[in-house]
Amino acid sequence: MFHTSYIEINKSALQSNLKFLKNLAGEGVRYCSVIKGNAYGHGIEHFIPLAEGCGVDFFAVHSADEALRAHMVMDEHSHVMIMGMIDDNELDWAIENDISYYVFEFERLEASIKAAKEQKKKAQIHVELETGMNRIGFAWEDRVKLAELLYREREHLHIMGLNTHFAGAESIANYLRIQNQIANFNRYQWYLRKKGIRSELRHTACSAPLISYPHTRMDMVRIGIAQYGYWPSKETHMQYLTQNGGKNMTENPLRQIINWKTRVMSVKTVPSGEFIGYGTAYQATDDTITATVPIGYSHGFTRSLSNLGKVLIQGQRVPVIGMVNMNMMIVDVSHCEDVKRGDEVVLVGSQNDNRITVSSFSDLLNNVNYETLVRLPRDIPRFIVED
Ligand SMILES: Cc1ncc(COP(=O)(O)O)c(C=O)c1O
Repeated sequence: MFHTSYIEINKSALQSNLKFLKNLAGEGVRYCSVIKGNAYGHGIEHFIPLAEGCGVDFFAVHSADEALRAHMVMDEHSHVMIMGMIDDNELDWAIENDISYYVFEFERLEASIKAAKEQKKKAQIHVELETGMNRIGFAWEDRVKLAELLYREREHLHIMGLNTHFAGAESIANYLRIQNQIANFNRYQWYLRKKGIRSELRHTACSAPLISYPHTRMDMVRIGIAQYGYWPSKETHMQYLTQNGGKNMTENPLRQIINWKTRVMSVKTVPSGEFIGYGTAYQATDDTITATVPIGYSHGFTRSLSNLGKVLIQGQRVPVIGMVNMNMMIVDVSHCEDVKRGDEVVLVGSQNDNRITVSSFSDLLNNVNYETLVRLPRDIPRFIVED
């Protein structure tokens, strides 16, 4: 065994999420699977072959180190795109290996042209346009110089994409800002088009805009959180339900694809009145049967879930009592029947008819699913299960 917990990744759940999302994106729209943040905690090396087996052939990462990991396990027909950090001295490697990357300032564009000339091979770039997020992207004021440079150096550049990113499409509070961004993107792309700049793909939508702003789908959608089975926000889920009749509020076409499991390490009875675990965080008010679980905050089960979290044992939700330690936590199993050392514990996922979702974790902590997922440590073994 040599591990204290493991993560199961469910292939049929992923298949069903991809089917739903591709169907939503529509005919002729390419699907790009976002696998930054260690594939949102699922594990790049495990997720890529699984996704490829479900028909995905385009992946997006944040940085060159993630692209390197992806490149090592990817099928030769798949493509990887870097949406953020790549050093100038890694551009040669990217060009040589047909890895595309975002360009959002003149320094990187000029370095790309230089590297492409030296390699006698076109750099594959996605030109990020600043439309109002004010994070990365060429400003509207840069348009003349940008268009001239792209046109003049077209022999050395393959403009694979024109793209932007929206500043919070999962919240209706940002509605006007997103509408402005869409208008700014269209204005910029038409300007470049008039100057003779053509791109293979225009891509702007991630999970929330795919659902809430259908005209942002364009030629390709870049989907992260939804493919792993989570709505970007409750608002987005409600919006989807409303668009689709809104009769059944519990309908959820997305399925969480991971189960995180461990086993009971030790069971004991603690007399009423005793404190349990470090300090005075929890005092037994009755004789209490406790199970110690070999998972703590070093494994990604955050300390903030002390006296708050729940796990599943024998299909029942049992509460974490006292503080979550670095490598262990204690749960109250007084109401379960004869819990034994070695019994399965589900930290995230389902057991019998009960379920602990990442979202329930996130809600308890006022966290977003994104953050809860990417905190799952890389060294927890991942296994693919068919269902
Ligand atoms: C540029 C870019 N595109 C796409 C995504 C995927 O977003 P989501 O997980 O909401 O689908 C992200 C994630 O933050 C991003 O930064």
